[in-house]
Amino acid sequence: MDDGLKITDSFAGIDADAWRLLEQGAGDPQSGFHYVTLCTVGRTGLAQARTVVLRKVSAAERMLEIHTDVRSPKWAELSAQPQATVLGFCNSSRVQLRLQGGTEQFSPKTDVARAAWARLAPSTRATYQGGPPGDDLAFPPAADQAVRPVDGAGHENFGVIRFRANLLDWFCLQRNDNRRALFAYGPEGKVVTQMWVNP
Ligand SMILES: Cc1cc2nc3c(=O)[nH]c(=O)nc-3n(C[C@H](O)[C@H](O)[C@H](O)COP(=O)(O)O)c2cc1C
Repeated sequence: MDDGLKITDSFAGIDADAWRLLEQGAGDPQSGFHYVTLCTVGRTGLAQARTVVLRKVSAAERMLEIHTDVRSPKWAELSAQPQATVLGFCNSSRVQLRLQGGTEQFSPKTDVARAAWARLAPSTRATYQGGPPGDDLAFPPAADQAVRPVDGAGHENFGVIRFRANLLDWFCLQRNDNRRALFAYGPEGKVVTQMWVNP
């Protein structure tokens, strides 16, 4: 796997490389951007952050897709405030990507969620069968009590989040020569502003 970013001074090259890394993240569990941090505004106004898997990326649409449990706090937080930040760092390319954007939620009965559910492995589906995320467990689960996948179970808890970036903050760590650039995207995903900033 090659996460390596070919450093270029061209804004177009940097933007394309950043989205190539994100696309790799969705396709390759070993990639540095397979897991990213999704940050939301919590119920009390405090920042909330958690690790999520990048499930699908469309560079053309500036879109990241994430799967989650619709009973989770993040689902409610995004319903109240759809603006979110996604943060990732890939050690092999030495690149940090911080994306700001809006989210759209697809609840279990939508075509988007049904189609995504149809593609999930039984073991992944089983993770949606348990109790609501964050609720008290009466006792710690025993090692031999892993949830057994039951056909169709969990679908009612499964939701899809689509995040559309309107800002990319790209930071590349290079010894003695860190680089940082900002890109703003218009509604159709085209770059409308690009600039170097101090790292
Ligand atoms: C490596 C890793 C990957 C994870 N991937 C996801 C994910 O794709 N979707 C998700 O909802 N939670 C995922 N989680 C769990 C979340 O980080 C989080 O603990 C959980 O969703 C509850 O978040 P919330 O209380 O902020 O809603 C993952 C956790 C880890 C450690």
